[in-house]
Amino acid sequence: MDKISLEPVTLRHAEDIQRLASDPLIVETTALPSPYPANGARTWIEELLEPRRKNGQEFAYAVKREDGMFLGVCGFNRVPVDKARVEIGYWIGVPYWGKGYATEACRQALNLAFSTMGFQSLYAPILARNKASQRVLEKLGFRHIRTYPNTVYAKWPKEEVLVEYALSRDEWVVLHTEHHQHP
Ligand SMILES: CC(C)(COP(=O)(O)OP(=O)(O)OC[C@H]1O[C@@H](n2cnc3c(N)ncnc32)[C@H](O)[C@@H]1OP(=O)(O)O)[C@@H](O)C(=O)NCCC(=O)NCCS
Repeated sequence: MDKISLEPVTLRHAEDIQRLASDPLIVETTALPSPYPANGARTWIEELLEPRRKNGQEFAYAVKREDGMFLGVCGFNRVPVDKARVEIGYWIGVPYWGKGYATEACRQALNLAFSTMGFQSLYAPILARNKASQRVLEKLGFRHIRTYPNTVYAKWPKEEVLVEYALSRDEWVVLHTEHHQHP
């Protein structure tokens, strides 16, 4: 497994985000606008992410490989003041799928969320047809909470089915401890 790391998204990443997020396969299963607008990355970083980061509402990280290659984005949205229940979101550029990068990026994000940022639980609403994304969270110990018609995202019809996955800090601590005891 290649070594990867997370670094806060800044305008330095706009070009890479713009290039990779413009692939229809990325916008198809994420909340990103579809089709991805020209200049969408710069607008997102400057007008949405940076003010929300200052308010403590959104945190996004560039997923970088050891050789410096930009792979995708992983982050936390809709952070409430009490940090009780935080949405996790992620995408990996299509050329880099199937190499364990999303799983490793989310593993590092969990560590940040629960040991540094003080979040109490994480959740993700995922399209039922997005099996790769569900697999990523299952591998990390998330539990399936419920299946429900899409009433969350305006970009998809309500006939689309969503599945919600969640992991609490307490569950993560147990998994983490077990992992270290039985490598
Ligand atoms: C979902 C996504 C992040 C996965 O990224 P990735 O780096 O390829 O993920 P990983 O390699 O860490 O793990 C993918 C897992 O899904 C599995 N998988 C892939 N396609 C699958 C499918 N059609 N059905 C079932 N499992 C599938 C892989 O085999 C792997 O599991 P394994 O390790 O047990 O073999 C990536 O496909 C993506 O960015 N998709 C578009 C954006 C998106 O949907 N983001 C998530 C929104 S909720």
